[in-house]
Amino acid sequence: MRRKLAAGNWKMNGTSAALAELETLAKAAPPAETDVLICPPATLISRASHVAENSHIQIGGQDCHAANSGAHTGDVAADMLHDAGASHVILGHSERREDHGETNEVVRTKAATAWEAGLITVICVGETLSEREAENTLDIIGGQLAGSIPDAATGENLVVAYEPVWAIGTGKVPTLSQIGDVHDFVRMRLERRFGEGIGRTVPILYGGSVKPSNAVEIFSVSNVDGALVGGASLKAADFQGIIDAL
Ligand code: G3P
Repeated sequence: MRRKLAAGNWKMNGTSAALAELETLAKAAPPAETDVLICPPATLISRASHVAENSHIQIGGQDCHAANSGAHTGDVAADMLHDAGASHVILGHSERREDHGETNEVVRTKAATAWEAGLITVICVGETLSEREAENTLDIIGGQLAGSIPDAATGENLVVAYEPVWAIGTGKVPTLSQIGDVHDFVRMRLERRFGEGIGRTVPILYGGSVKPSNAVEIFSVSNVDGALVGGASLKAADFQGIIDAL
């Protein structure tokens, strides 16, 4: 059966000093059935991998380029992330879709490249507030899933993160039934697309204002297999509280 995953997305936060938080997490007892992933900024991946070596913590990137190398000033290739010690990469985060105009097609191409490099992709989907208010949430999520995930998903190379855009960094969290509706829908779409076998093995994370104080109830929802955490992953004590809730 699929494992649970607590993933921290540090976003554009953290210089060398932040590695002390990672060190604290790495010293904690490994949870029995939960994988733990930290995605620091690209500048820290190599050092973070070193800090996390021989611990239960895995390290991931926050994005990669669609190509494996070439004239792309400022970009990072999936191969480079893998070489620096990353096992995962987040793709299609709403901040990338918004700030960099990333379309589903771009995300899909990046995912295929990341898989070739041996990375597990955490592909993000989520609706804006106006899309939810217009009752378009499931259409939007369905379109993002269909457009952003390459056919070659094996169940081992894919994690899906549902992050309602309006819940990110706002302190607003959907109701448990709203979370459950989307996660059940994502599961149904994954099973329909990849067959029940593979479709059941893909972890589905919830992301958006997850904190130690709300993690237990969010994790009680069916088909919520973990969380993708922004702000509350920056401090080891907060993130450990979320890991412990899984
Ligand atoms: O990728 C995680 C994220 O977008 C959620 O951020 O700060 O609301 O936990 P936050």
